[in-house]
Amino acid sequence: METFALVFNIIVAILVVAFTIYIWTCLLISKGGKRPPFIPSIGKEKKIIIEKASEYITKSKKKMKIMDPGCGSGSLLLPLAEKFGKHNFVGIDLGIIPYNLIKKKSEHLKNVEVYNDDMFKHSFKDVDLIVCFFTSQFAPMFSEKVLKDAKKGCVIISNSTELPNLKLIEKIPFRSWFFKSYVYVYRI
Ligand SMILES: C[S@@+](CC[C@H](N)C(=O)[O-])C[C@H]1O[C@@H](n2cnc3c(N)ncnc32)[C@H](O)[C@@H]1O
Repeated sequence: METFALVFNIIVAILVVAFTIYIWTCLLISKGGKRPPFIPSIGKEKKIIIEKASEYITKSKKKMKIMDPGCGSGSLLLPLAEKFGKHNFVGIDLGIIPYNLIKKKSEHLKNVEVYNDDMFKHSFKDVDLIVCFFTSQFAPMFSEKVLKDAKKGCVIISNSTELPNLKLIEKIPFRSWFFKSYVYVYRI
């Protein structure tokens, strides 16, 4: 029993140290959050976003275009694309690792397009629904882009990060580890 407890504690300690190193490395690479690092949506927040996005897609009578700008490995985009085969999904990511992951994982999905690119070079004009997960430092730049570029009625579902100057229509609380946070829903 004691050996089990020791091994368990060592594994937990290794995981905590690895996670801390990963977060700090991400923060350094991300220039203080100005370039959101590759941290996939997981847990309750992922479930809430997928459920909320599914509500909008299910209600829509027309074929929708759903985008995850900064899609990472497709944690949000791919479950939705698998569930809604008749709608179009677009993922864009600047990082070569997340891009290659989503590219490989989406090979079998005909309704998914992915780009290894800067989201600011892409038009959001025909996008109906956006799912995203950014840092608070990046949020003002993204809001500006969306206000300039996205069409009226476009819905944006943001994991944990408030997007300034956008019209908030819903704020869904969740608890992640010890922190209380929100999924934010906006409409242009
Ligand atoms: C926090 S992760 C979110 C991943 C995914 N949306 C999810 O929720 O699982 C943010 C991602 O945005 C990407 N990213 C950061 N700045 C970007 C930019 N200007 N254009 C495209 N992707 C960007 C990063 O490479 C990273 O994979």
